[in-house]
This record gives sequence, structure tokens and C-alpha cells, in this order.
Amino acid sequence: MTLAAKESRKRVFIRTYGCQMNVYDSDRMADVLRPLGYALSDSPEQADLVVLNTCHIREKASEKVYSELGRLRDVKVERRRDGADLMIAVAGCVAQAEGEEIARRQPAVDIVVGPQAYHRLPELLAEAERKAALRRAGKRLPGAGVLDTEFPPESKFDHLPAPAGVRAGSAFLSIQEGCDKFCTFCVVPYTRGAEYSRPAQSVLQEARALVAAGAIELTLLGQNVNAYHGEALDGSTWSLARLVRAIGEIDGLRRIRYTTSHPRDMDDDLIIAHGEVPQLMPYLHLPVQSGSDRILEAMNRGHGRDLFRRLVDRLRDRRPDLALSSDFIVGFPGESDADFDATMQLIDEVGFAAAFSFKYSRRPGTPGAALADQIPESVKAARLAALQALLARQQREFNLEKVGMTVPVLFAEPGRKPGQILGKSPWLQSVYVEGPASLIGSIAAVRLIEAHAVSLAGEIVPSLEAAA
Ligand code: SAH
Ligand code: SF4
Ligand code: F3S
Repeated sequence: MTLAAKESRKRVFIRTYGCQMNVYDSDRMADVLRPLGYALSDSPEQADLVVLNTCHIREKASEKVYSELGRLRDVKVERRRDGADLMIAVAGCVAQAEGEEIARRQPAVDIVVGPQAYHRLPELLAEAERKAALRRAGKRLPGAGVLDTEFPPESKFDHLPAPAGVRAGSAFLSIQEGCDKFCTFCVVPYTRGAEYSRPAQSVLQEARALVAAGAIELTLLGQNVNAYHGEALDGSTWSLARLVRAIGEIDGLRRIRYTTSHPRDMDDDLIIAHGEVPQLMPYLHLPVQSGSDRILEAMNRGHGRDLFRRLVDRLRDRRPDLALSSDFIVGFPGESDADFDATMQLIDEVGFAAAFSFKYSRRPGTPGAALADQIPESVKAARLAALQALLARQQREFNLEKVGMTVPVLFAEPGRKPGQILGKSPWLQSVYVEGPASLIGSIAAVRLIEAHAVSLAGEIVPSLEAAA
């Protein structure tokens, strides 16, 4: 590329908040912007366009966006002083939930685009640039930026370019979106819309393209990924289990993961697949939220603690070494000490390898926000501390059990210290070793030698055949 061509390239900085589906969406937004001449930038200061791909799940997550927007406004003002500009776009779940409110709170925002509409970014950008140019020329325009928070009739998946590349051998693949379950604490059904499964063929095509581009691990994504029911070419409907088996046949693919699952959709076929599909990793993220039937009912989860325990037993029958992970919410409205004890007891009985836990956050528009008997912050904090202490103990024990084993590790990135590389075990533990950066993106056999709270130290074993 000539110097002039290089200089004429535009740069986009994308900051991603929230879940893995947003990580996937951010990559796809980069794919959409690339044909317009946008290359990725590492910082807002060097970018012509900044996209904040936002999360609305808890209050803290969505408030972060506004402080970041304040900082970006300052960059924009400075840029304009120099006769240039910075375009600011807000994408993702805050964009969907708060729409015009965003531009009202921060008029520097040029584009607001929801999670189902970002394939239209080129048109939105053209419109926003036109408006910005008029404003720079001193025109006063009604309204602020350009807004698209529709749930369009066309699926974004049919309008996205092929994924551009694979980082370190591992790729996310969204197969299902949205949610119809309406748990009473959760914003997702409102921000992502109704449940939708991509057709099996289109998923398989993308999976093959990702493997051809160097992926040896695929993580299938969906807010309710195991509710997947995609249409197949012959008109039949494929379950997640059926899809996993088909993806398992792609030559060169070594690992399959999927997230996030709902206990209600954990069917027999999927449980059996865990014992039969060699590429399906022995790790399952299965959020339970609470161990109290009363609270599970109030949350509208559609299952009780017994169903969850039975599921775990059946999964462990098929895959005894399965690492179980989960999500927990403490302090849902009406949660008594006895309810909380029931959660602690469930954790004790099940034993988790990892977990995410949160204080209940009151989200506007959800039924939970309107419930009486909201729990004081101090009680939530104390419960969360107790719960996290128990989960941390379990995670450490789980890690300790693996010490002495030789296991395949997929290396993803350099470690914190020079000469170290960091990867994932089959059970999704972080493992670091002394090793060459050339191993990043590949699987090597590692003997695990030391367990820490959230990681393990290991050493590379020369032959992969030695791996467990
Ligand atoms: N679809 C997944 C979870 C999506 S949100 C499922 O059904 O489990 C990820 C996690 O955020 C949830 O599992 C829940 O534990 C947490 N979460 C969602 N809404 C929350 C709220 N209002 N307050 C606190 N945590 C919340
Ligand atoms: Fe939210 Fe419940 Fe849907 Fe999960 S299943 S996304 S927690 S409403
Ligand atoms: Fe957040 Fe939206 Fe994901 S609210 S957790 S980014 S689906």
C-alpha cells in the first residue's frame, strides 16, 4: 500500500461491554465497516469512528456507557477545534433499551443502533456524516443523531459479510438470538427481541468458513443457545444436539463449546451428546440463579431446584468429569435468609467449577423492578460475599483436583510475564506455561503443576499423544 493510500484509510475503535454475543457482534460490525475503508484502531484518540457496543444487563454496566461518552465528547470537541471530527456510535443493548434518551443525555452521539440492525451501519454512517458536515457548515438541524433500533423483518445474518479472520484458533459463532422467557429480573427479551434460530445450513456454512480461516475451537452462542431449533434444508428442525453433531464432523475442528444454556431446554439428546461427541468440551455453563423454589418461581424461571439437580446428575452420568459453571443472583425482591440458605445449600450439594454471581439490579421496565420487598444493598453485599467465598473455595478445589494431569491446552494469548503463554484447558480453566508465542492458536499437551484461585500453572509436554 502506498503511503497516500495508507493515510486515506479511516479507523474505527470498537469498545465491547457485556456478553460474548456482543463480542461476536463487535467483530461483525468491523466486518461491515471494512469495505467502507475502516481499519481497526487500538484507541479512540486515533480513530475517526468510535463504536461503543453496550450492555444493559445491570445498572452499573449501562451507566459506564455514559461516563465513556462524556470522555469521547471531549475528544470530539478537541478534534473539531482542529477542523476534523470524531463520529460516535452507540450500539448494543443500551442503544436498544434507551434509544433517543442516549442522544438526549449526550448530544455528541451521532448514531444509535440496536443489536438487530447493525448490518445497516453503512447507510446510518452515510446519513450521520451528511448531518455532521451540515452542522460543521453552521446549519442548525432538528434532532440529534441517526437512530435505528428497529427489529427489522430481515435477519442481520443474511446481510453480513463473511467473517474476516480468526484470532488465536478460536471463534464465536452466534446461532440463536433473543429470548421469550421473560425472567422477571432480566432486560434481554426487551433488548434483543424474540427468540430466533438461524437456519442450520447458514450456521454450518459459517462454521466451515471459520474452520477454513483457522479456527480449531468454535463456541456456539445464544442467549438461550440450547433452545436452538433451526430449520434444516430438508424442512426438518434441528436441535442444538443435532447441530453440534454436524459441526463435530467438520475436518480440523478440535473443540466445540456452547453458551448460555437454560435448564428448561437441556434435553436428553444434548445430555447424551456430552458423552458421545468427542469435540464437545467437558464444560457447561448452566445458570440456575437461585436454589430456592420460591424465588425461582418469583423469577419466572420455569424450573425448581430439583429439576436442576436431576439435570446435573444426568449430565454427570454421561460425562463424569463435566465442569459445571453457573450464574447466581442474590437479593432478588423478597429473598429471605432461608431462601439464601437454600442457594448456599444447592451450591454445596452440586459443586461448581466456576461461577458468576451478582447482586440483584433493579432494571426499569422489568416486572422485578415493580415488586415490593426490595432487599437493602447491605444485605445483598453480605450475601454476595458469603456466596462468592463458597464458590471460590469450590473453584480452587476443582483446580487442585487437576494438578498432576497432562491435558491439552489451547493457547490464546501471551501471559502476564515475558516468555509466558496463556490458554484454556478442556474445562475452560486458564493455564499458563513458559512457552513460545508461536504456540498461540494451537493445542499442546501440558502437565498441570500448580493450582491457584482462578488459574493453573503448567509445563509443556513434548508430545500431544501424551495428553489426557
Ligand atoms: N440467558 C442467560 C443469561 C443472560 S444474562 C440465562 O437465561 O441464564 C447473564 C446473567 O446476568 C444472568 O444469568 C443473571 O445471573 C444476571 N442478571 C441478569 N439480569 C440481572 C439483574 N437484573 N440483576 C443482577 N443480575 C442479573
Ligand atoms: Fe434473561 Fe431469563 Fe431470557 Fe436468560 S432466559 S436471557 S435470564 S429472560
Ligand atoms: Fe448485556 Fe445485552 Fe449481552 S444486556 S449481557 S450485552 S444480551
